[in-house]
Amino acid sequence: MLAHFAATLILTSIVNAWSPTDSYAPGIVDCPSYLDEDDYNTDNRTGFLRRANGISDLEEKWMQERDNITIEHLKEFLRDTNLKNTDSYLDDIVSNSSARIPRIALSFSGGGYRAMLCAAGEIAGLDNRTVGTDSHGLPILEAASYISGLSGGSWFVSSLVYNNWTSVQEIIDQTGDDDAIWDLDHNILAPHGINIVKDASYWDDLDDQISQKRDAGFEVSMTDPWGRGLSYQFFPGLDDKGASMTFSGLQDWEIFKNHSIPFPIVVSDGRTPGNKIINGNSTVFEFNPFELGSYDGYVDTFVDLKYVGTPMDEGKPSGNGSCWAGLDNTGFVFGTSSTLFNQFLLQLNTTDLSGLAYTAANHLLQDLSKDENDIAPWHPNPFFNSPWGSSEHIISNDTLFLVDGGEDSQNVPLYPLLQESRGVDVIFAFDNSADTDENWPNGASLVSTYERQFNSHSANVSFPYVPTIDTFLHNNLTAKPTFFGCYASNLTSLMEETNTTYVPPLVIYIANRPWSFNSNTSTFKLSYDDDEKLSMIKNGFEISTFNNLTIDDNFSTCIGCAILQRSKERMGEPLGDECKSCFDEYCWDGSTYTYPENASQPNDFTTTGRYNNTQSQASADEEVNPDSSSTASASASSTAGNSISSISSKSHNDANINGVSPLFTVLALALSVLALN
Ligand SMILES: *[C@@H]1O[C@H](CO)[C@@H](O)[C@H](O)[C@H]1NC(C)=O
Ligand SMILES: *[C@@H]1O[C@H](CO)[C@@H](O)[C@H](O)[C@H]1NC(C)=O
Ligand SMILES: *[C@@H]1O[C@H](CO)[C@@H](O)[C@H](O)[C@H]1NC(C)=O
Ligand SMILES: *[C@@H]1O[C@H](CO)[C@@H](O)[C@H](O)[C@H]1NC(C)=O
Ligand SMILES: *[C@@H]1O[C@H](CO)[C@@H](O)[C@H](O)[C@H]1NC(C)=O
Ligand SMILES: *[C@@H]1O[C@H](CO)[C@@H](O)[C@H](O)[C@H]1NC(C)=O
Ligand SMILES: *[C@@H]1O[C@H](CO)[C@@H](O)[C@H](O)[C@H]1NC(C)=O
Ligand SMILES: *[C@@H]1O[C@H](CO)[C@@H](O)[C@H](O)[C@H]1NC(C)=O
Ligand SMILES: *[C@@H]1O[C@H](CO)[C@@H](O)[C@H](O)[C@H]1NC(C)=O
Ligand SMILES: *[C@@H]1O[C@H](CO)[C@@H](O)[C@H](O)[C@H]1NC(C)=O
Ligand SMILES: *[C@@H]1O[C@H](CO)[C@@H](O)[C@H](O)[C@H]1NC(C)=O
Ligand SMILES: *[C@@H]1O[C@H](CO)[C@@H](O)[C@H](O)[C@H]1NC(C)=O
Repeated sequence: MLAHFAATLILTSIVNAWSPTDSYAPGIVDCPSYLDEDDYNTDNRTGFLRRANGISDLEEKWMQERDNITIEHLKEFLRDTNLKNTDSYLDDIVSNSSARIPRIALSFSGGGYRAMLCAAGEIAGLDNRTVGTDSHGLPILEAASYISGLSGGSWFVSSLVYNNWTSVQEIIDQTGDDDAIWDLDHNILAPHGINIVKDASYWDDLDDQISQKRDAGFEVSMTDPWGRGLSYQFFPGLDDKGASMTFSGLQDWEIFKNHSIPFPIVVSDGRTPGNKIINGNSTVFEFNPFELGSYDGYVDTFVDLKYVGTPMDEGKPSGNGSCWAGLDNTGFVFGTSSTLFNQFLLQLNTTDLSGLAYTAANHLLQDLSKDENDIAPWHPNPFFNSPWGSSEHIISNDTLFLVDGGEDSQNVPLYPLLQESRGVDVIFAFDNSADTDENWPNGASLVSTYERQFNSHSANVSFPYVPTIDTFLHNNLTAKPTFFGCYASNLTSLMEETNTTYVPPLVIYIANRPWSFNSNTSTFKLSYDDDEKLSMIKNGFEISTFNNLTIDDNFSTCIGCAILQRSKERMGEPLGDECKSCFDEYCWDGSTYTYPENASQPNDFTTTGRYNNTQSQASADEEVNPDSSSTASASASSTAGNSISSISSKSHNDANINGVSPLFTVLALALSVLALN
């Protein structure tokens, strides 16, 4: 307890160094000296902006140093597979200055708390800090170069990174403690349940914090209380619950400076009010610890994230020339990536929140615009008059409008990982989307990313062939890990079509699937009791490890083959029999299927495929309705008591403060209005 307290104190003092005002409000700072350097402004650089031709110099340098760490862990991982001579193979690569070190990326989809908790379990299976990974896990986390998340996936990524790269095991172990990360017993509107006094003081705090931002002259929107509320659940140990913590502040953390974590990326889309976006014309933005921007032709610009908030014209400080910092609050960033959920706050009047707590919440919320409430306005727009962007909507407006990263239906944040200069060789694409009627993924996200590469305005990238949704379902491609783009030799005509010269990464697609728990909870299920939470996490572990390595003895080896494949192709190394049989087993074989007209796609496809799970079939139907929490906890308790959920998970009985049911309907409606697929 003492140690925990001390860590909190240290963190808080670091945190205080980030926002110049030590609060949620941005403030004036010294302008960086690089603005005045004679040789700084070039064709491709102006003030705080640079053209999006590759990654930043800072990221490039950072990643080279990260390579030195990942390579050692990759060796360690491969030693435990059946692959031969991997140490000497990788040593040769390190000593060959023209060879590239294999880079691994992990990508986590959106899908609310379901996506967050599935992701937690999925990464736990890859993290040697989780109990059990030595015998039945795939400990490659320390070999990963990138980690991306959007919406619920960004909550997960940010929770880990901004809690000083804590482990899921540690979060599990804290469950039930005061100040535990991810106490989701009650929803964000009434986090203290029936304790109206505490709820009221929570809303008063949010109101104060958000007023400070408004008083500093910045526009506030529904995204502010949303991001702040989430931060209370994700950073409960910090005195100010992350109010002064910025996304770019990570640059100063020890874990980032010593390259001991993967490089985090959070994705959001551009959408101007009154406009719809579809996958074809969306603009994919990314936040990383150094920058915010987009590789798409509409923007083609990145900005130094720390100074976002400074009024800029062509990247130079405008107005009175002051520089500002602190707008990139970490919660505001993942709030921006998940604006779909802003709707939730508008349901205040349909909840049972009462008395002081209602008054406090209503005081804050009623002042915020209800129109276009899924948009996070970033004002002033850092890309104003960017010399490179082509979209008038975006670069000629004084506000930058960003929305939920899943609104263009690319729900797995793969786009940033396809950038040639990132040199990613393999992506673990964790898809926790709710595509089917029963909230399971069906591959739609990959189809969207595949289609997008052929748009001329989108960044110059390529992405391997994937089949249609019908094929994903019928051929059981969501039933077990499936590899796409296994052979570079099959991708040459694709690369011609997209005018790219680099081979896209191999994609390891891993879909949400019920192993020990029905993890198809609704995207808008906003509270989880501890048993449900732990069962979701445990099931996630089973997803990423192919049921704890019990289905296929060779699974680790096959993952090793996928990781090394691009590198071996570059080096002209033969595939080898071991990997050949892996690829025969896990690569999509190119066959396709179309359901006959009038025949609907199967709803019960989780019961098909060789790797079905009998237990899940029994209760799959009951779990469709997110309200059936009684079913959920019943099946949860039957799976408790093993290492991952062996902590004392007190099942607090939710006083059901919010009328989940009506709320749910409204949200489902809102979702369809937004024309999400
Ligand atoms: C964060 O973790 C690193 C390494 O695990 C440790 O050195 C550092 O002290 C931690 N920082 C805080 C504030 O706890
Ligand atoms: C600026 O970027 C363009 C497009 O990527 C590139 O062709 C050009 O060489 C760059 N110019 C400089 C001076 O780096
Ligand atoms: C990586 O490590 C090698 C030796 O261990 C060292 O020579 C090299 O400078 C390091 N590279 C970076 C970018 O840190
Ligand atoms: C995880 O691996 C790292 C690096 O190999 C090692 O230092 C650490 O002790 C391991 N942790 C556990 C819990 O095994
Ligand atoms: C898989 O491993 C996790 C972590 O050790 C454990 O909690 C879970 O019970 C295991 N699941 C099965 C099906 O063995
Ligand atoms: C995107 O396409 C949709 C459908 O064609 C259209 O309604 C919308 O205006 C377009 N949005 C932008 C930003 O071009
Ligand atoms: C709740 O309803 C009251 C009365 O109709 C209204 O004044 C208030 O703005 C509503 N609050 C929210 C957050 O919608
Ligand atoms: C910025 O966009 C908003 C919403 O589309 C629009 O109402 C406003 O007029 C635009 N402002 C400028 C300066 O173009
Ligand atoms: C590739 O280049 C051709 C010819 O310049 C162009 O027509 C096509 O739109 C480009 N394709 C993409 C995906 O950019
Ligand atoms: C891909 O290439 C491999 C080896 O070059 C070949 O055996 C296989 O049939 C090809 N697969 C597809 C789907 O084209
Ligand atoms: C599910 O798996 C069980 C056990 O492996 C098997 O007996 C059953 O036939 C499978 N069901 C389907 C629909 O594939
Ligand atoms: C998918 O799974 C079902 C049920 O186990 C099986 O009958 C079918 O052959 C599988 N489809 C393919 C393409 O493997």
